[in-house]
Amino acid sequence: MTISSHSENQHTPYYHYDSGLLAQTLDSIRRAVADAPAFRVHFAVKACATPAVLRQIAAAGLGADCVSGGEIIRAVEQGFDPSKVVFAGVGKSDWEIREALTRGIATFNVESLEELEVINDIAIAMGAVASVAFRINPNVDAHTHEKITTGLNENKFGIAMEDMLPAIRKAQEMSGIRFVGLHFHIGSQITSFEPFEALCHRINELTDALRNENIHLQSINVGGGLGIDYEHPEDHPIPDFEGYFGTFKRLLRLEPGQELHFELGRAVVAQSGSLVTRVLYVKKGVQKRFIIVDAGMTDLVRPAMYGSFHKPENLSAAERHEELTDTYDIVGPICESSDVFVKGYVLPRTQRGDIIVFKSAGAYGEIMACQYNCRPLPGSVFE
Ligand code: LLP
Repeated sequence: MTISSHSENQHTPYYHYDSGLLAQTLDSIRRAVADAPAFRVHFAVKACATPAVLRQIAAAGLGADCVSGGEIIRAVEQGFDPSKVVFAGVGKSDWEIREALTRGIATFNVESLEELEVINDIAIAMGAVASVAFRINPNVDAHTHEKITTGLNENKFGIAMEDMLPAIRKAQEMSGIRFVGLHFHIGSQITSFEPFEALCHRINELTDALRNENIHLQSINVGGGLGIDYEHPEDHPIPDFEGYFGTFKRLLRLEPGQELHFELGRAVVAQSGSLVTRVLYVKKGVQKRFIIVDAGMTDLVRPAMYGSFHKPENLSAAERHEELTDTYDIVGPICESSDVFVKGYVLPRTQRGDIIVFKSAGAYGEIMACQYNCRPLPGSVFE
């Protein structure tokens, strides 16, 4: 993004989505799975539900991974085929289950026996049959941030491996349920392929064990989790999809006719989005210089919540060929000391009115914005 593409009249802060980079990213996914007809890629809508972004992803043929009734409605409205929608989440409420059945989604990823019974009852009452995959907690360590790891026994997600077989047997007896397969998700922002390799081995073990019980899986869903390069977005604007999908091609043993589903969120959209802010003040503190921008943790919560880094770039200083630099803490206007984007960062000398963008903010950015301090939600521009 250049300053020329930033309209002076555009109210800041706002999210900017680069549809050209998104198109290249989607194309890279398409090429990486072109020789694997059993692979089905879904977009995890929780990462970004901005309508124009969803429309472009739906038009590329991906399915949608949803975790709420609201996401299902949004995804279908923006062009996703309901027969390519999967529905996950530890706490599905009754109206959400009914909404999913009415819209004819593909599969419920079910996380407990308690939930299975409720889906069965609702489906029978509606004269429907719900296709169900069990989310299995594979106890694989994703080596990622503790707040976004999900595949360990200590997490609230999924059914433990030892409870899998009785759960399947039970599902097979229910008239409102059609058991189709297993679902896994080990965590997010995973930057090495090793946890995915471990997941493949674990799934092979489980499917072997099930085959011995005469249980056939129509589909296996390995969730999402592929990470991106937040430090050097310009060097790695598109994740290594060849390497990622290649891991599953190489290691996961699929039976003929079996489908392998993926639910990627961050890797699809993160690098295509930036948060655009304006500098309100450059304040000289006792020991530090602060850049106070008009975006805060309400617009992009990741730094405050996970200590994440979003690379800042001063577009205005670049345009005026600013040669001097300074070290700054870049902070927002919210009345919380955690409202900090980055500390001790060297930027070209900055002044009031400059446009600063935070990169790699397309995933879990706009969608996690909130209205704390009665602030308006950030807008978005898609071009
Ligand atoms: N499937 C399931 C079941 C999930 O729980 C998630 C993410 C995904 C797929 C997509 O994962 P991805 O490909 O985006 O890694 N708000 C946090 C991330 C939370 C991820 C939650 N689950 C962040 O800003 O880093």
